[in-house]
Amino acid sequence: MGEPFLFGVATSAYQIEGSTHVDGRGPSIWDVFTARPGAIADGATGELACDHYRRYREDVALMRWLGVRAYRFSVAWPRVLPEGRGRVNPKSLAFYERLVDALLEAGIAPFLTLYHWDLPWALEVQGGWRSRETAYAFAEYARVVARALADRVPFFATLNEPWCSAFLGHLTGEHAPGLRSLEAALKAAHHLLLGHGLAVEALRAEGVKRVGIVLNFTPVEGVEEARERADRYHNCFFLDPILGLGYPESPFRSALTPPIRPGDLDLIARPLDFLGVNYYTVARVAPGEGVYPVRYLPPEGEATALGWAVRPDGLYGLLKRLGALVPWPLYVTENGAAYEDRWAGEGAVEDPLRVAYLEAHLEAAFRARAEGVDLRGYFVWSLLDNFEWAHGYRPRFGLFYVDYPTQRRIPKRSALWYRDLLSAKGSN
Ligand code: FCB
Repeated sequence: MGEPFLFGVATSAYQIEGSTHVDGRGPSIWDVFTARPGAIADGATGELACDHYRRYREDVALMRWLGVRAYRFSVAWPRVLPEGRGRVNPKSLAFYERLVDALLEAGIAPFLTLYHWDLPWALEVQGGWRSRETAYAFAEYARVVARALADRVPFFATLNEPWCSAFLGHLTGEHAPGLRSLEAALKAAHHLLLGHGLAVEALRAEGVKRVGIVLNFTPVEGVEEARERADRYHNCFFLDPILGLGYPESPFRSALTPPIRPGDLDLIARPLDFLGVNYYTVARVAPGEGVYPVRYLPPEGEATALGWAVRPDGLYGLLKRLGALVPWPLYVTENGAAYEDRWAGEGAVEDPLRVAYLEAHLEAAFRARAEGVDLRGYFVWSLLDNFEWAHGYRPRFGLFYVDYPTQRRIPKRSALWYRDLLSAKGSN
């Protein structure tokens, strides 16, 4: 018998932890970016977020109540190495050790992501991901975390969605560090991938059991040229090099290319133990103008509060495609929906649209699995409502509603639904 299917929930450090000035944490690019006027809706920051750094025990209890088998979370690099490299801050490592121990005690497998976008500011000042040095710093950080936790954490993912770090961070400017330069974005993309490859080696040397990466995918619909271009941009740019295929033909109308040095592509293509797949929606495109000549069309049919089309068939098609391409087991490491949930001050929060979204996507995932795709797990984004990056706190993705002024967690109907599903599957 194989292992049981891993049902879980996911979060990330900056989005939930708060306590940004506590226990020797150094600043990250997100602390600086959120302070920039106009960068974030409502001027929100991650300073308090869900106060998870102090309430983690309560949050592990919520997971136990749900009956999940796994928890995907991220470690904050600026907590562990406040200057990015060199000096280790044991106080912060101790936090993640306490969290991991609490999870194990609750029978929940820790699924750790090393980098969910919170680069130490000290490294950004030295060129951030535009600098090749940051890839080496990342491997050093990976080694430190693995030394502390490899004995207790069965899954290590290097990067979360490097597409967002590279392109939203350096090309569109929507995410930290907020640059708008194709040259910067291509450098960042390549150094992120190089950092991934170097970290894979470091993690293996430290005895980590399962090593992988988490990528985001957006299936694309539309007329030929724009569709293919957008597909290379959204779905191939990071996957192809990891699979040993090198970069796809550039999606950009530009002579600029990633700064590849001899040996880099081999490092980037080191074999993995899993691929994490983040899926939310599809994109409809048409020909456009400029260096990336693609236009995005509004969603057709039902959409979430962020205007993302509800398309479970997109997940099915994606998993079938990846199943045929990727030689490693797949995990859906994020899937979920934002709605403007409201709480009446008592009782559960009614979120029928989220329940319908999750039901349909799980069904799609299991259909792909039944047809032979090696899918081993599924994580709902997210356990809690949290800091949704440039959108601030308004879009709510949680199974639990967070009443921010009191930090109370209130189960939504979707939490009750997930709990029932997991207990029916004998996972409780
Ligand atoms: C993904 C991110 C995650 C969350 C969801 C909604 O791109 O990995 O942190 O914000 O989107």
